[in-house]
Amino acid sequence: MIEITNLNKSFNKHLVLDSINLHIAKNKIYAILGRSGSGKSTLLRCINLLEIPDSGHMKIRDLDIDFSNIHKNDMLKIRKNVGMVFQNYNLFANKTALQNITQSLITVHKYSKAKANEIGFEYLNIVGLSDKANHYPSMLSGGQQQRIGIARALAFNPEIILFDEPTSALDPELVDEVLNVIKIIKNKTMILVTHELNFARKIANEIIFMSDGKIIEQSTPEAFFNHPQTQRAKMFLSKFNNNVDYVI
Ligand SMILES: Nc1ncnc2c1ncn2[C@@H]1O[C@H](COP(=O)(O)OP(=O)(O)OP(=O)(O)O)[C@@H](O)[C@H]1O
Ligand SMILES: [Mg+2]
Repeated sequence: MIEITNLNKSFNKHLVLDSINLHIAKNKIYAILGRSGSGKSTLLRCINLLEIPDSGHMKIRDLDIDFSNIHKNDMLKIRKNVGMVFQNYNLFANKTALQNITQSLITVHKYSKAKANEIGFEYLNIVGLSDKANHYPSMLSGGQQQRIGIARALAFNPEIILFDEPTSALDPELVDEVLNVIKIIKNKTMILVTHELNFARKIANEIIFMSDGKIIEQSTPEAFFNHPQTQRAKMFLSKFNNNVDYVI
């Protein structure tokens, strides 16, 4: 469904993504794991063209993008196909919860206001926040703001949703309410960068493990957590999760 080949990205001569090849299958959930600085966020940001890779290709739906020669409307098409949930929610402070969801439905996707509101309420309901439609972000907890962020990403029915550490800015007691919302999302392709290893293990169909800008392991959670293949993955797992049983 998404095919990324030979994606490279440098910042000031520092190669941050190094020959990334990735096949993303429809309606599967991928968790990207790796140490800080390994390139996880940059990879997500390259997929929705918030960062422009230096080279490589990406096929998504009927789009075939050559990163070294991006066309003007590639960006718009990508934004219509790819939803993103950010660590810090990125909600508009001066818009209500409902307006945060309907804004791009009206401006980018050209829905009427009435239709956008209808969709907005549908997704507020899905994330359990129908009663907060007219609240501004400052009146919502972090967990509620993130659930609005998720509703906003889902509302335009994108082909794929990218989550960049959606719970890492939250107080521990609010993490579960957001993970529970992610859990109920059905029939959607998702790539999730997270440090919630137990959650990744439970929810993901595949684990992608990155180190120094490369994907160095890609396997089922079962294989990754029980039998990591590389020393780096073994070290990563031993640091983060003492409960995980795996063979060194
Ligand atoms: N805009 C930028 N300009 C320069 N360097 C950058 C930029 N964005 C990221 N980098 C560098 O690219 C590398 C990968 O960063 P990235 O944010 O993708 O890592 P990450 O795996 O998401 O880390 P974390 O777990 O801390 O979020 C890091 O060395 C980082 O300093
Ligand atoms: Mg990151």
